[in-house]
Amino acid sequence: MLLHHSTWHEVEDYLTRSKGLIIPIGSTEQHGPNGLIGTDSICPETIARGIGERFGALVGPTVTLGVAQFNLGFPGSVSVRPTTMIALIQDYVSSLVRSGFDHFYFLNGHGGNLAPARAAFQEIYTETSLRHAADDHPIRCRIRSWWELPRTNALRHDMFGEWEGVHATPSEVAITQHAYPDAIKVRDMNKPERVSEEYLRDHPSDDHYDAHHHREKFPDGRIGSDPSLATPDAGARLVDCAIDEMGKDFQSFLAEG
Ligand code: NI
Repeated sequence: MLLHHSTWHEVEDYLTRSKGLIIPIGSTEQHGPNGLIGTDSICPETIARGIGERFGALVGPTVTLGVAQFNLGFPGSVSVRPTTMIALIQDYVSSLVRSGFDHFYFLNGHGGNLAPARAAFQEIYTETSLRHAADDHPIRCRIRSWWELPRTNALRHDMFGEWEGVHATPSEVAITQHAYPDAIKVRDMNKPERVSEEYLRDHPSDDHYDAHHHREKFPDGRIGSDPSLATPDAGARLVDCAIDEMGKDFQSFLAEG
C-alpha cells in the first residue's frame, strides 16, 4: 500500500491497524558505465513496495535525492547537503507523527545517507527529551540499507564474489534491471581494479572526500565492482530475499514498541 496512492480515509483506516511506515531513501547519482542514475532510489523503492504488498505495510514517498557530493564530478548527479537531508527527514517524520504514526523505517539505498539520517533521528529524539513529557507517545526511527541484513548480504556475495565491489555493484544494477527491464543498458567495460584493503579501511561507504578527488580516483564511476555481471534474474532473487528479510525486520521493529 502506497501512501501517495491512498486517500486520507484509507490512511486513517490503516492507522487503526498499524502506526508503522516504511520510507525508501536513496540518491540520484552516477552508477558507473551501465548503472542508472536513479539506482540508489530504485533499489529501496522496489524492495519497500514488495514489503508493502507481502506484509500489508504502508510505504511513503521515496526520498530520491541523497547526500552525494562526491559524485558531483559526473554529469547528472544531484546532491543535497547533509543539513538539508537532516531537515527533510525531521519534517517528513514530524508531519506524519501529527497523523498518528510512531514507527518510521527508512529503507536505504545509499551509504552517504546513513550519517545524516542518524543525526536527524537524534534531533527528533532531542525534541521529545527536551520537552520532558512522559506522556508523549514515543517515536521510533530505524534506518537499514537493503544490502546489510545477513541473508541478503550473503546472497549478493555468493552471486558476485569479489566483483561485488562497493559502488555501482552488480547486485544493485541487477535490481534495477529486474525493476525496469526496458531501461537495461549494455556497455562494454573492462574489469575494474579491485579495491584495496587499505581503501576499504579508510573509506567506509558513507565516508568520501570531494567530487574532484572521487572522479580522479574512480574515472568510470565504479568502485571495485563489475556491474556487467548483473542480470534481471539475479535482481529478482535479491529483491525476493530482501523483501522477506527486511519485512521481518520491519515487523520486529514494530513489535519493539
Ligand atoms: Ni548505489
